[in-house]
Amino acid sequence: MEEVLAIIREDLQRVEEEFRRRLKSRVPLITQIAEHLVKSGGKRLRPAFLILSAKLCGYDGDAHIPLAGAIEFIHTATLLHDDVIDNAEVRRGNPSANTLWGNEASVLVGDFLFSRSFSMMVEVGDMRVLEIVAQATTHLAEGETLELVKTADLETTEEENLELIVQKTASLISAATRVGAVLGGAPPEQEEALAEYGLQVGIAFQLVDDCLDYAGQAEALGKGVGVDLREGKVTLPLIHTLKNCTQEERRRIRDVVLAEELDQRGLGQVLDLVQKYGGISYTMGRAREYVERGKEVLSLFPPSTEREALLSLADYVLKRRY
Ligand code: IPE
Ligand code: IPE
Ligand code: MG
Ligand code: MG
Repeated sequence: MEEVLAIIREDLQRVEEEFRRRLKSRVPLITQIAEHLVKSGGKRLRPAFLILSAKLCGYDGDAHIPLAGAIEFIHTATLLHDDVIDNAEVRRGNPSANTLWGNEASVLVGDFLFSRSFSMMVEVGDMRVLEIVAQATTHLAEGETLELVKTADLETTEEENLELIVQKTASLISAATRVGAVLGGAPPEQEEALAEYGLQVGIAFQLVDDCLDYAGQAEALGKGVGVDLREGKVTLPLIHTLKNCTQEERRRIRDVVLAEELDQRGLGQVLDLVQKYGGISYTMGRAREYVERGKEVLSLFPPSTEREALLSLADYVLKRRY
């Protein structure tokens, strides 16, 4: 991962500066929360996807910096909102903004980040880029709403879960890679290939996240584990388990999902069942397939360090522990 990012280290550094600069507001509470977010870090994967895609298509201008910053702003805004929805207490190894400042402030600062991201894109002034990102943010909101509606729905199918994942997570990553292609003036088939790569790798990214929520280490993750189950989120490890378990086991899972408070015992019981039916390995297997599909489409491009980096980034998605 370090090696992959080495070739764009300077650009990422510039994105970080842009990020800080554009977080400033006349309202001190916004600046305060924003600083907390910057300090907590984050992997900055979406900027990396955008920058590498732009460079793969031969882009040598400067607009990739504010655009990568804008995409990361949107991502950060969704995390602020998502932590309110999920009642999450920890994010990026620190207490979440909603824990420190409350739900109201988190929602409002999320809105600030959304609006600021669009100002940044307007300054770049490329209507195609605005169109792509506007569509992705619409999908994002739809995906998060769909997930809310599906809360505690044990009948959720893998297909429905996939649709939700495409909207809430993969659409933004796909927008990042597509915007890179647009910046580089790529021909339509290359733009489609990069968007497809982002989509497939984005799906894998969320599937791995859903595994980490069951099987990850909270310390390394920088966020809580078992949060999905506690909040009644029916993700693929559980969907697979529900499909294969007995009626009695299904009833046990239902009790845990519907419980007001998730205790360690309930979590342990469901985790045992997920293990018993191979829910994690099934989901990781699916993630691997999506990563392979994503990598395949890059064969459209001639070999280059950027292409190598995007291929490694796809593999990293499967290996990540946080
Ligand atoms: C977390 O995204 C939200 C999901 C889409 C699963 P990241 O894992 O990219 O979050 P940061 O930015 O690195 O904290
Ligand atoms: C939310 O997914 C992803 C967004 C689009 C915000 P999760 O709810 O799984 O993200 P984490 O696990 O809280 O980071
Ligand atoms: Mg969440
Ligand atoms: Mg998650």
